[in-house]
Amino acid sequence: MPPVLVDSTLLADNLERIAEEIDEGFDRLLPIPQDARARLVEAMRYAAIGGGKRLRPLLLVATAEMHGTNRVTALRAAVAIESIHVYSLVHDDLPCMDDDEMRHGKQTLHRAFDEATAVLAGDSLHALAFEILANPETIGDPFVRAELLRVLGTAAGMNGMAGGQMMDIIAESETFDLGTVTRLQQLKTGALLAAAVEMGAILGHAPPESRTQLRAYARDLGLAFQIADDLLDHEGDEEAAGKALRKDAAAGKATFVSLLGPERARTQAQALVEQAIAHLAAHGQEADLLRAIARYVVERNH
Ligand code: IPE
Ligand code: IPE
Ligand code: MG
Ligand code: MG
Ligand code: MG
Repeated sequence: MPPVLVDSTLLADNLERIAEEIDEGFDRLLPIPQDARARLVEAMRYAAIGGGKRLRPLLLVATAEMHGTNRVTALRAAVAIESIHVYSLVHDDLPCMDDDEMRHGKQTLHRAFDEATAVLAGDSLHALAFEILANPETIGDPFVRAELLRVLGTAAGMNGMAGGQMMDIIAESETFDLGTVTRLQQLKTGALLAAAVEMGAILGHAPPESRTQLRAYARDLGLAFQIADDLLDHEGDEEAAGKALRKDAAAGKATFVSLLGPERARTQAQALVEQAIAHLAAHGQEADLLRAIARYVVERNH
């Protein structure tokens, strides 16, 4: 099968647009209160505004729009999932976890503020996500609202991101095989990326057959994404990445790169991207953005 060509301006335009929209969304939701909580909200804004690729929002909005959802509604749900992602990074960087100093090209939150503030800002961003989704002004249909809440809750907790983070910590001291590392990655990173696509499909009332294909797309994309993150950690440029690299090997962490070596890991990531794109075969041009995102996931340098 010839490789599917994607229009790079389509992706670049959409990345730029979603970054602006998500910044605006957080800006609107996080006015600084005139009391002692100001420090907390300043910290939330520091972490949430002006950084990151906004990949989960883009996946959510692209999937929702592909199924005819209006962008304003999709954007609210997109801010909710990004709020979970930002919180997960704030906590991931804490001294008790990865103990990192740089994120998005600036000091990590606990460095710029302090640890207690970073914990509370993470807690509050986590809560904010559910507040947004539970708001009838975000989504009028109570069934859709409940489904979005369930999907995001599952993806964030013990059966998703937090569960994967636990396995990731254990991966520093135990020898995990490829199957266990795959499971770890699917939870740590895959779950939230898959939730972005799933939430877009829920908002768009995608038919069951389409939902199955989108799930398969998201599963392959999620795994490819984390292999790319591990490859970046292994051989990327710190300035471009905006965060410290070469940390996984130093921590003795089992990753796709440590188990397969960089060459085979890269081949695997590329094969997963092709597979992800193949799951969109039933769709025409309307899925071009999802195809472009899949390619970007392994070609990115940050
Ligand atoms: C980084 O995710 C953390 C992982 C889940 C591996 P992203 O690469 O999506 O983070 P942003 O773009 O900096 O927010
Ligand atoms: C973090 O994974 C994944 C989260 C769920 C936050 P990493 O620890 O590999 O992410 P980076 O490399 O710090 O961005
Ligand atoms: Mg980590
Ligand atoms: Mg980390
Ligand atoms: Mg990493």
